[in-house]
Amino acid sequence: MTQPALVVSLPLPTPLGRFVLHAFESDAGDVHLALVIGEISGASGVLTRVHSECLTGDVLGSLRCDCGVQLRTAMRRVAAEGRGLVVYSLGHEGRGIGLLNKLRAYVLQDEGADTYDANLLLHLPAEARRFDAAAEVIRALGVGSVRLLTNNPAKADGLRSAGVVVDEVVPVRTASHVRNVGYLRTKRLRMGHVMPSGDELDGAPADVRDVMELLGDVRPRSDRPYVVAKLAQSLDGRLATATGDSKWISGEEERRVSHALRAASDAVMVGIGTILGDDARLTVRMVPGASPTRVVLDSRLRVPTDAHVLDDDAATLVYTTPSAPAERRFALASLGVGVRTVPPSADGVSLTAVLANLRASGVRVVLVEGGSRLVTSLLAAGLVDRAIVSVAPIIVGAGTDAIGDLGIGRISDAMRLGGAKVHLAGEDVIVAGDVVAPSQVAAAGEAP
Ligand SMILES: NC(=O)c1ccc[n+]([C@@H]2O[C@H](COP(=O)([O-])OP(=O)(O)OC[C@H]3O[C@@H](n4cnc5c(N)ncnc54)[C@H](OP(=O)(O)O)[C@@H]3O)[C@@H](O)[C@H]2O)c1
Repeated sequence: MTQPALVVSLPLPTPLGRFVLHAFESDAGDVHLALVIGEISGASGVLTRVHSECLTGDVLGSLRCDCGVQLRTAMRRVAAEGRGLVVYSLGHEGRGIGLLNKLRAYVLQDEGADTYDANLLLHLPAEARRFDAAAEVIRALGVGSVRLLTNNPAKADGLRSAGVVVDEVVPVRTASHVRNVGYLRTKRLRMGHVMPSGDELDGAPADVRDVMELLGDVRPRSDRPYVVAKLAQSLDGRLATATGDSKWISGEEERRVSHALRAASDAVMVGIGTILGDDARLTVRMVPGASPTRVVLDSRLRVPTDAHVLDDDAATLVYTTPSAPAERRFALASLGVGVRTVPPSADGVSLTAVLANLRASGVRVVLVEGGSRLVTSLLAAGLVDRAIVSVAPIIVGAGTDAIGDLGIGRISDAMRLGGAKVHLAGEDVIVAGDVVAPSQVAAAGEAP
């Protein structure tokens, strides 16, 4: 193999940090970009990521993989440490099979093959990458030894056998999305990777590490997404105090779980009351993961133009009714907010119309984070598949009830959570289960 030669060096300011970029090229035309912060020449224990190019994940934010999140997490960590290196290896698409073959493999995966077998079905190797060129780049930069950011032990082995001293392998934790959790599991089971979101839950109660178990068996329907209602309440069943304060009912660990649930979902939905009361951002900030599309139900377009939910950290859709003022529509549209009109209902906007429109837009999982009115109307309409309720060890007294009137007169008519499991997040208890309507409970009781 020819050694990559340094072609050009230049400063590269990014939102994640100010890097110096060194571009290397081999005789064969392979390009490797080294993004450097701080003095790494002669240093040992340099925090290092060797990242394989993934155009769909890195640039387009594809949720089929977690590459983009891993790249940005590595850049952030290197910038935070004030010293380190990210080697970005071009030509490593699809573990070395190239962009077009990777896209062909995605089609096979949609037909049922996993990420490993899809490459084999195309008569291509499951792993075609070599790490010698990246190792040469690390050597050319004078790095003595590295702490390698990766979930892939084979990458550490490849670099070691190419002469890099790897002091430590540092896992890159990312929060999985329901669309890439299968891909991540295959990488763990068949390719020896470390599961980035941690071990699966085993028994209960146990600390939450993998939120996929909280989400349950994701089953979107043809006319609407899989709807998950998530609430954080006090021991006495309040979402907020009598003055409307709800920051924060739950502890930090529980809020981290909420952020991981957002990262796992396609969309996060609230009523306008939650925006006016909390100025909620609804982005993923407490775990490394992509923010979902934010959805606000707002029949009269009361959302303020300076609300956090409209900032450009993620896409936002506002569902409203035909009677909403035209000037408000215009003001929101000019901010890049999607304003969608659906028929009205007694509670605001038609929930079936909103959910059908989201499904038609490709949304498979929607996480409803409140407030009380929205969750109550969804439950009353039988539109909630799964409930995740966190209970914090606090007592609030008078305040906003977690769930409003559902017209249930007898305990035997209560909605139940089927297959409910209990988890712990710090001092908070999380109960998650499938919502079972009373008619289903009765039918199950009558079964022979
Ligand atoms: N602890 C928690 O987990 C949590 C989570 C969220 C919120 N909160 C707290 O809850 C309070 C807000 O409660 P909320 O019940 O007013 O908020 P919400 O459920 O988020 O918003 C309710 C509003 O959404 C609009 N809406 C549109 N279509 C609707 C539909 N089909 N069904 C129901 N609502 C629809 C209605 O306003 P229009 O008629 O104007 O459209 C309605 O008044 C705040 O104090 C907040 O802090 C707590």
